[in-house]
Amino acid sequence: MSEPHVLLLGAPGAGKGTQSKRLADAFGIEHVTTGDALRANKDMDISHMETEYDTPRAYMDAGELVPDEVVNEIVKTALSAADGYVLDGYPRNLEQAEYLSDITSLDAVVFLDVSEAELVERLTGRRVCDDCGANYHVEFSPPAEDGVCDDCGGDLIQRDDDTEDTVRERLRVYEENTAPVVEHYRDEGVLVEVDGEGTPDEVFESIREEVEAAT
Ligand code: AP5
Ligand code: MG
Repeated sequence: MSEPHVLLLGAPGAGKGTQSKRLADAFGIEHVTTGDALRANKDMDISHMETEYDTPRAYMDAGELVPDEVVNEIVKTALSAADGYVLDGYPRNLEQAEYLSDITSLDAVVFLDVSEAELVERLTGRRVCDDCGANYHVEFSPPAEDGVCDDCGGDLIQRDDDTEDTVRERLRVYEENTAPVVEHYRDEGVLVEVDGEGTPDEVFESIREEVEAAT
């Protein structure tokens, strides 16, 4: 059997990155994430495209969506190199969902359900490793030593878009653009909802069961 194609949906801070990493390790599949790909290429020159700004950075630091042209290309390239994958951070609007359906087929679509109050707390307390990208939370999953990555010893930093004002804007953009994507998969009858407010281990168990049932 071929490797699973998993789509993980959820608001900013729902735990997509945390759970995608675990799924990728458990199933031996690729973690394809537009957020990380864009952060690694924040200053890429996109001025040749018909875009408002010249780099992804300008959109990301404002909490806005980077233009579809840019992210569609990233996803197409990443998926063509992957057998199985867990897709995190894409699609974020209905146009991207349509593009995705043209380039691949999905085995499982999982939505992580988390309340807005919890999302804000998670995002403003998140710290990420500047070297390896590992995720921490000052309260919910702190590193052994303050400011130092358990995995590689790198510095832990706050993402530029994790300030309270930008977090609020990201949640607004999510409601406007991405909540309709969740409804689209619900209408198609393929959406599975998982309570995203348990511990990371509990949430992972629920997702793993759903992926196994679907593949
Ligand atoms: P992206 O990087 O995708 O950010 P996001 O969707 O806002 O999601 P996050 O990464 O903030 O949250 P997450 O769900 O991964 O949560 P995490 O596991 O880290 O996108 C950033 C920007 O890039 C966008 O704003 C946009 O500009 C651009 N972009 C990206 N994709 C795009 C696209 N397709 N189209 C256009 N533009 C695009 O967890 C959060 C925190 O909570 C962590 O601290 C973690 O330790 C903690 N935590 C996780 N799980 C739990 C738990 N169960 N209990 C307690 N704490 C937990
Ligand atoms: Mg993430």
